Amino acid sequence: MQTFTFSDGRSINRLGMGVMRLTGQPGNFGPYPDWEAGLALLRQAADNGVQLFDSARAYGPEHADRILGEALGDRDDVFLATKGGIDKFGPSEMKRDASPERLTAQIEDARRNLRRDTIDLFQLHWVDPAVPLERSVEALEAARQKGHIVHIGLSNVTAEELDRARDVAPIAAVQNRLNMGDRDNLAMVEKTRALGIAFLPYGPLGANPMKQGATLDTRKALRWLLDLAPNVIAIPGTTNPAHLRANLRVGATA
Ligand SMILES: NC(=O)c1ccc[n+]([C@@H]2O[C@H](COP(=O)([O-])OP(=O)(O)OC[C@H]3O[C@@H](n4cnc5c(N)ncnc54)[C@H](OP(=O)(O)O)[C@@H]3O)[C@@H](O)[C@H]2O)c1
Repeated sequence: MQTFTFSDGRSINRLGMGVMRLTGQPGNFGPYPDWEAGLALLRQAADNGVQLFDSARAYGPEHADRILGEALGDRDDVFLATKGGIDKFGPSEMKRDASPERLTAQIEDARRNLRRDTIDLFQLHWVDPAVPLERSVEALEAARQKGHIVHIGLSNVTAEELDRARDVAPIAAVQNRLNMGDRDNLAMVEKTRALGIAFLPYGPLGANPMKQGATLDTRKALRWLLDLAPNVIAIPGTTNPAHLRANLRVGATA
């Protein structure tokens, strides 16, 4: 499997996994109902070469971080990524809050839920229109300086927002929506590649975040993303062991 190397020298397989759907449905709300099967699926993924697992506080909320931490928190061969800056109150009730105080508290929760002193990648989920981006990134940088997170990432950002954030702290990854059927973020692949940072395309199989089911030919869609650029780390989401095996086969031959 091809790898991407982060600035600290750690090389990570480019076929990762999204864990948003290991939550209650509809709306990624509540705990995943078959918790033991979810734990087994995450361990199956890690045992077969998946290293980067992408979660977020908003998934559950907190339940995706919890299942990930219980399954893999004690393994040092996996790279755990999560996000903060959104509070979720119901299947479709969410509120952005990326104030420094809230982000700092959410990082503490994530360290506990992921069972890690240091989170490999903590991403700002969305820019909060009520909080200057610089203040949010300063809070993440303070956590990085304390050793609570290794890398800072941004999600759902424009090129201009990425530049503003980079003036405040080193940014290791951008996560925006991109797939064969939705190419609005292609320019961000080029920008992140030029900067030597990772790009994590979300919704890689065309799924709508609030609905189940891939809408694209999954094999073609994953290969298209992995072939785009060497800094792309794909994070297909699955709850199904057979689908996981199929996605791993694409990763192995990309
Ligand atoms: N930053 C953001 O704002 C944001 C937003 C949305 C998502 N994300 C991240 O991106 C990850 C992936 O996104 P996503 O889950 O929305 O969409 P996706 O990966 O495009 O699609 C997931 C859907 O495809 C199905 N699937 C997966 N592999 C398959 C295969 N080999 N054959 C057939 N169907 C397959 C899954 O069903 P089965 O469970 O049945 O396999 C699931 O319903 C999330 O887990 C999350 O980490 C981030």
